[in-house]
Amino acid sequence: MNPRKRTVILISGRGSNMAALIDAADDSNFPAEIVGVISDKAEAAGLGLAASKGIATRVVSRGDFPNKEAHDAAIDATLREFGAEIVCLAGYMRLLTNGLVEKWQGRMINIHPALLPLLKGLDTHQRALDAGLRIHGCTVHFVTAAMDDGPIIAQSAVPVLIGDDEKTLSARVLGAEHALYPKALRLVAEGKARMEGGRTVFSDFEAPGHNGLVTSPGPSGDPVDLEALARFTP
Ligand code: GRF
Repeated sequence: MNPRKRTVILISGRGSNMAALIDAADDSNFPAEIVGVISDKAEAAGLGLAASKGIATRVVSRGDFPNKEAHDAAIDATLREFGAEIVCLAGYMRLLTNGLVEKWQGRMINIHPALLPLLKGLDTHQRALDAGLRIHGCTVHFVTAAMDDGPIIAQSAVPVLIGDDEKTLSARVLGAEHALYPKALRLVAEGKARMEGGRTVFSDFEAPGHNGLVTSPGPSGDPVDLEALARFTP
C-alpha cells in the first residue's frame, strides 16, 4: 500500500465534518491520515473534539497577526510543521489569501453546503428555502482563489421537503456532508481525482460510474447512492 497522505484539517467552529474525516481515517486502510487540526479561533468546539480523538491541534488566531498575509503565512508554516500533503477546509470561516491558495493548489479541498455553482457564500440553507429550491445539497471542490469556485470533486443532493425550515434542511444536508467528504478525500489521496488545467480529472476507477460521488434523493428523502443503483440488476 502507498504511504497514507498526511492530511491537516482547518476549522473555525463545531468541527462535525472534521470529525467525519477523522473517523474515516481511523481505518488504517484509508489512504489519508489526519495528522493535525488547525483553528483560527481558540474557542472552536472542534478543537476539543479533535483532541479527544487523539489528534494534535494548533490555534493560529487571527488577532495575533497584523494582516491577512501574516496570518496566512503562519497557517502555511503550521501546515508545513505538520508535514501536510493535503489540506481539508471544514467550516474554516476565513477567505484565504491568493498566496496561500496558490501554494496549496490541487492539494487543498473544501466542503460547501450547497450544490455549486448555485448558492456560493453564507446562509445557503435559508437562501435555498427562499428561492423555493426543491433540491439542495453539498459539494466538495478544490480550492482556488475565487470563493466557492474551484473544480468540483463530488456532490450530494438532498430534497427540500414541504415544511422544511433552516434547521431541518441544514441537518439533512449536514448528514450528506459527513458521508460525502471522506469519499472525496479518499479520491484525492489516492490520486484518482486531480486538479489539472482548472478542472478535476478522474482516473483509475475500477468500474465506470459515479463511484459514490454523486447521490440524489430517493422517495423517502434520504440520499440514494447512484453507484449502487447502477449495479442493481433485478
Ligand atoms: C458545514 O456546513 C460546511 O459545509 C460549511 O461550514 C459548516 C461547518 O460545519 N463550510 P462543521 O464545523 O463541519 O460542523
